Amino acid sequence: MEKTIDEKVQGNSLVLKPQPSNSKKLFIESYGCAMNFSDSEIVASILAKEGFNTTQNLEEADLVLVNTCSIREKAEQTVRKRLEKYNAVKRINPGMKVGVLGCMAERLKSKFLEEEKIVDLVVGPDAYKDLPNLINEVEAGRDAINVILSKEETYGDISPVRLQSNGVSAFVSITRGCDNMCTFCVVPFTRGRERSRDPQSIVEEVNDLAAKGYKEVTLLGQNVDSYLWYGGGMKKDFKDATEIQKATATNFASLLRLVAEAQPKMRFRFSTSNPQDMTLDVIEMMLQYRNICNYIHLPVQSGSNRILKAMNRLHTREEYFTLIDNIKEMIPDCGISHDIITGFPTETEEDHQDTISLLEYVKYNFGYMFTYSERPGTLAERKLEDDVPEEVKKRRLQEIVDLQQKHSKYRTKQYIGKTVEVLIEKESKKSAEQFSGRSEQNIVVVFPKENYKIGDFVLVKVNECTSATLIGEGIGLSNNN
Ligand code: SAH
Ligand code: F3S
Repeated sequence: MEKTIDEKVQGNSLVLKPQPSNSKKLFIESYGCAMNFSDSEIVASILAKEGFNTTQNLEEADLVLVNTCSIREKAEQTVRKRLEKYNAVKRINPGMKVGVLGCMAERLKSKFLEEEKIVDLVVGPDAYKDLPNLINEVEAGRDAINVILSKEETYGDISPVRLQSNGVSAFVSITRGCDNMCTFCVVPFTRGRERSRDPQSIVEEVNDLAAKGYKEVTLLGQNVDSYLWYGGGMKKDFKDATEIQKATATNFASLLRLVAEAQPKMRFRFSTSNPQDMTLDVIEMMLQYRNICNYIHLPVQSGSNRILKAMNRLHTREEYFTLIDNIKEMIPDCGISHDIITGFPTETEEDHQDTISLLEYVKYNFGYMFTYSERPGTLAERKLEDDVPEEVKKRRLQEIVDLQQKHSKYRTKQYIGKTVEVLIEKESKKSAEQFSGRSEQNIVVVFPKENYKIGDFVLVKVNECTSATLIGEGIGLSNNN
């Protein structure tokens, strides 16, 4: 998540307010996408009822859980390193139990227990409600594993605790799994089939967050535009739904309307959009409701039609341009970001140039750029040789990163002299005199604190910028407070 992923928080341990009646200590840390961070909140909520308070101190933990990512090999290596660290701590604290959650748990299953002696517990993304039973097993001295993927589980009935939150912005997951089968991607294997969460439970969670003072919610899913609620069940079974189910189904655009109207003062974002599933009724909702932020994360992966096809991305370069043109025509100041993979098998210099020219056409606000990492079990791994040499991948990546940097600067510069509405999230990392927040377009904005406070919507006049940040001064509270 990747997208909303803040690389700086990777591996953060998470804590919440202790409950005095709880005596056991849970250390939980998360890697990977926003969905993992959100899942860890569900896990902590389940375990709070089992007598666990969270701790940030690894040495005193009774249970250590690591929520893992499999998206690239490097993500998995990072987790293996952490297991080494836990192993060292176990020498000081021999009673400590270690569990692996998330995508690596799902991918490696019982292999984890064989390969990593330190691991006592392996739990896949759809099995967190089984944690109380699994922990009983572990406490009785047995290894425990549940990696069953579900057709139904959305955790809609669990009210997540908010871990290490700024109290201002929160994630709410709306779909789980993915049916897209992009040939490079491990997610359909680790997170299972796509299913949507009951809109009523989403609205309730949003209302609850608003009541607790939250000001911004990001609706999360691997492919949010594909959201479809017809009473439960997998997306792929919708065709067999009854006429009434079909007539009363909620799609993503109508879900946006529901949340936007439920909390008119709250800002809403969503991530991630897949170009092939994004429809203009979503853009219309963004236009209609000022509290739906004008920002879309729209991964493209490659600018070459041949590579898009080999990736099983079900759109062409031209269709992507049409979508971008439509978005920009309807919402000229819409922020747009991307994901790009460079060095997918068979990628030629010409394909790479197609990606470069696509970047030139769109001039994204920002993006997340990766070199291709072959993942076991994916179609690309089974059918295609990982034949682009590492140094070629790296050189192409650098060219893409440099160009994106130029475009980011071009985009931020457009804001100089203009006023943007910023939701204050925290103190700026660089200066205790400054606040940091984001504009509607998801651009970071810093400005002097004056008498403003975290959670305020402030109108900020932009005076300077870097490629990633707008620097300005507050000129007053916006009328959204
Ligand atoms: N739809 C998901 C995508 C998750 S993966 C979402 O919520 O965003 C996030 C990004 O990681 C993808 O868009 C892709 O650019 C990148 N990625 C996925 N698999 C990869 C691989 N095998 N190698 C390199 N990058 C990959
Ligand atoms: Fe992965 Fe493609 Fe789904 S990138 S998460 S298979 S949309």
